[in-house]
Amino acid sequence: MARKKIAVIGAGRVGEHTVHSLAMKQLGDIVMVDIVEGKPQGIALDIMEERPLSGWDVNILGTNDYADIAGADVIVMTAGFPRKPGMSRDDLIEANMKIIKPAAENFKKYAPNAIVVVVTNPLDVICWAALEVTGFAKNKVMGMAGVLDTNRFRTFVAMEMGVSVKDVQAYVLGGHGDDMVPLVRYSNIGGIPLEEIMPKDKLDFVVQRTRKAGGEIVKHLGYSAYFSPGHSAAEMVQAILLDEKRVLPAAAYLQGEYGLEGIFLGVPILLGSNGIEKIFELNLTDAEKAALNKSAAGVKEVTGIAKNILAKM
Ligand code: APR
Repeated sequence: MARKKIAVIGAGRVGEHTVHSLAMKQLGDIVMVDIVEGKPQGIALDIMEERPLSGWDVNILGTNDYADIAGADVIVMTAGFPRKPGMSRDDLIEANMKIIKPAAENFKKYAPNAIVVVVTNPLDVICWAALEVTGFAKNKVMGMAGVLDTNRFRTFVAMEMGVSVKDVQAYVLGGHGDDMVPLVRYSNIGGIPLEEIMPKDKLDFVVQRTRKAGGEIVKHLGYSAYFSPGHSAAEMVQAILLDEKRVLPAAAYLQGEYGLEGIFLGVPILLGSNGIEKIFELNLTDAEKAALNKSAAGVKEVTGIAKNILAKM
């Protein structure tokens, strides 16, 4: 069986960590594309030279030529400007639309059968642009944020309660912004519902911290997170290439699910070799629905801005 091929667009912090996590998982050969000459080549060589120590049987090519993604099974889109302190993810839309449009044209040209996993922010809207420009099937374009946000939620619960992160199950839905919806009712520690085991003040604290977790890191570093985002993207690639049928929250194109249409939003999906194989509709309470609608309204507004930008390009 021929090896699978994974393309990672962008050799920045998120791109290089995605490639490193993918190499570790040995899912297939990797091509890393960036517009800066030397950057993807250097990173690719460095990870290639780590392989005698790690024993990873994969090849990694760094390139400035999109033609090298030809025939990729999965594309991870990480190219784009990250946030600086004080910026929201939505502030990136102008700059990152200029990057996703030509990139997505190249996906269509060189890898028309690929499944696309978007990491570039504002994530839900860049997913929309990727779908619009490629014209790929709706189940083949998705965004990574739910896995990352859920891991952040799990981390904070584990830290507050002094329990293993392995035993914390949690769910975050909605857009990848400060209005995201940590679903407390569907979260538990070792099967015990969070609301039963966690004092209310601690619970409120972890919910708020999860919503602003990306910004917390930007404040510390002056730039945005990359270890957890890179690994989260690789986890989704694994689910696709190994047809794992994982049930994960991810940004999916909605066509009436949750009463929403024409936008990408974080919802629980079944992820396998055919991309998004199912969208699960949860029975949300009125308060949860209201929170999801608020998050969706923000995504809708920025998607409208993106539509206008695209029309003028
Ligand atoms: N094609 C390929 N690569 C590009 C293109 C393009 N058209 N335009 C820019 N790049 C590259 C840059 O040269 C840079 O190497 O994208 C990379 C971005 O890297 P960083 O600035 O380190 O940003 P990073 O932290 O990796 O974040 C990338 O992911 O989480 C999101 O908000 C974040 O949108 C941002 C994206």
